Amino acid sequence: MAKNFYEILSYTLLSPFYKKDVSRLNLNGNEKVLDFGCGTGTCSRFIAKELLKRNGKLTCFDISKSSIEAAKKRLERYSNIDFLAGDLRKLNIEKQTFDVILAHLVIYHIEKNTRQDIVNELSKLLKPDGIILVFHFLYGKKSENPDQHLSREGLVKIMEKAGLAEIKYTFARSLLFIPTYIGEFGKA
Ligand SMILES: C[S@@+](CC[C@H](N)C(=O)[O-])C[C@H]1O[C@@H](n2cnc3c(N)ncnc32)[C@H](O)[C@@H]1O
Repeated sequence: MAKNFYEILSYTLLSPFYKKDVSRLNLNGNEKVLDFGCGTGTCSRFIAKELLKRNGKLTCFDISKSSIEAAKKRLERYSNIDFLAGDLRKLNIEKQTFDVILAHLVIYHIEKNTRQDIVNELSKLLKPDGIILVFHFLYGKKSENPDQHLSREGLVKIMEKAGLAEIKYTFARSLLFIPTYIGEFGKA
């Protein structure tokens, strides 16, 4: 019930926040983009719209099959999206496929014991000159789930272990005005 309520909110009142976050990708429109942990497609719709301009392609991926089903329904008007669900490590996506990977409020949601493996996999999927943009809530100690406590330093360490370097970062109040780290990573 609460989940549905949040989904409705994210497609209405919260919509401008997602749109603004997606604008930080600075897409040309011709890229291959992965929306990693896309959920029900809250960011994906804005990415898909940008990519229609110059024949770009979007892959929406989430571990949750039901979220991907919901995203499919929501985004059925876009012909430039592939939808995939499951364990990223088992999907056999070709290496160096994506120009841009978005991880919007996802990394700390990945199960702690698989987090490094999954980020390693993301790194393999990135083209040599590609970028990964990470949005990361700075919950501090307020998060209910201790496994989700991940500082900026902790996050950067995981990215670096996967062969990714922080190119630039900023702090902003994104969704719901929650303090958020926004980091851009490329191959080290
Ligand atoms: C807070 S939601 C963010 C959804 C969307 N990116 C957004 O900003 O609205 C976190 C998402 O991460 C997904 N997730 C968690 N672990 C994952 C994994 N190992 N691989 C892919 N997605 C994962 C969850 O299923 C969930 O949809």
